[in-house]
Amino acid sequence: MTDLSYRSPKTEVRESPIHGKGLFAKQAIAAGEVVAVKGGHVLATKEWTTLEKSLGPADIQISEDLFIAPVRKEQREGSMLYTNHSCDPNIAIQGQIVFVAMRDIAPGEELTHDWATTDDLDYEMQCNCGAPNCRGTITGKDWMKRELQERYTARGMK
Ligand SMILES: C[S@@+](CC[C@H](N)C(=O)[O-])C[C@H]1O[C@@H](n2cnc3c(N)ncnc32)[C@H](O)[C@@H]1O
Ligand SMILES: [Zn+2]
Repeated sequence: MTDLSYRSPKTEVRESPIHGKGLFAKQAIAAGEVVAVKGGHVLATKEWTTLEKSLGPADIQISEDLFIAPVRKEQREGSMLYTNHSCDPNIAIQGQIVFVAMRDIAPGEELTHDWATTDDLDYEMQCNCGAPNCRGTITGKDWMKRELQERYTARGMK
């Protein structure tokens, strides 16, 4: 079966010091390169909330009321991007589903994005990213923080 999501052949999934498995560069990746594209079924929030819990967390919110997610167990693995959150990320979402390198990335580095740039949800998570600027607690409403909006807008993200 073809994977629902795309992960660059320059990446690999392996154990992460942040959490479970993560996505890592196995070769050098240049700033601006596409590293992953999220694929899946496009679901309204109402449908998304009825999905079996064992399918998550393999979804991504693409608008206020839409998510992309696998809907069957056998699709989950090929839909996961395995990108953990970091408060000092090296990849960023461009549009709704395409992830690009924010800077040159060396082989062996874990590819992380700041979930403040993708999530608008009600959750709170203790962050284990280990970055010097770690926020400690991550919430699904971090996108509202002016400091983060300014940081990522300055880097060309909207
Ligand atoms: C989409 S998964 C990412 C892949 C995950 N590491 C795995 O092995 O399935 C999202 C989950 O990873 C964990 N996670 C990701 N980033 C994290 C972080 N910075 N600190 C703590 N847990 C994190 C959380 O449990 C979250 O629900
Ligand atoms: Zn953090």
